[in-house]
Amino acid sequence: MTASFRRNWRSRGARYVPSLLAGSALILAACSGKAARAAALRGNPDAGKVAIAAYGCGACHTVPGIRDARGLVGPPLDHFARRGFIAGQLPNTFDNLVRWIESPQSVEPGTAMPDLGVPEPLARNIAAYLYTLQ
Ligand code: HEC
Repeated sequence: MTASFRRNWRSRGARYVPSLLAGSALILAACSGKAARAAALRGNPDAGKVAIAAYGCGACHTVPGIRDARGLVGPPLDHFARRGFIAGQLPNTFDNLVRWIESPQSVEPGTAMPDLGVPEPLARNIAAYLYTLQ
């Protein structure tokens, strides 16, 4: 590779960086919107909101949109649709989130999040709500 080629590539590359960044932000936004819509087909976000309040998730988590959910024991659940991992363990997919909510101890034995006995249909509703948090 010649020096002039490298220089050229660099200056051209630099020019593309801002549009690349803008492009990936758009793609990310589109993907997380898509995740919320896909999640809404597999669970009911409004019912999930009710279940989050009923199971007292807010005693340990701050959850936007849930009254009095301001707990600080676990991580805040804001922007959940944009997270890469669940509890630093599982890739953040709908099925993995349902699994975590149903039985965090089977995913990560000894985690400070207790098994709360959330049945699968409610765990799906809760997951659908969490994916509305962009
Ligand atoms: C007794 C406290 C407690 C309660 C109640 C609780 N959690 Fe948690 N939760 C935690 C802790 C602590 C973690 C972090 C676990 C870890 O990383 O090992 C966590 C992690 C999570 C995560 C992953 C967060 C992240 O940033 O990756 C989700 C999602 C979650 N909880 C959802 C819920 C839901 C939904 C409920 C109610 C059904 C709930 N939690 C109830 C303590 C709690």
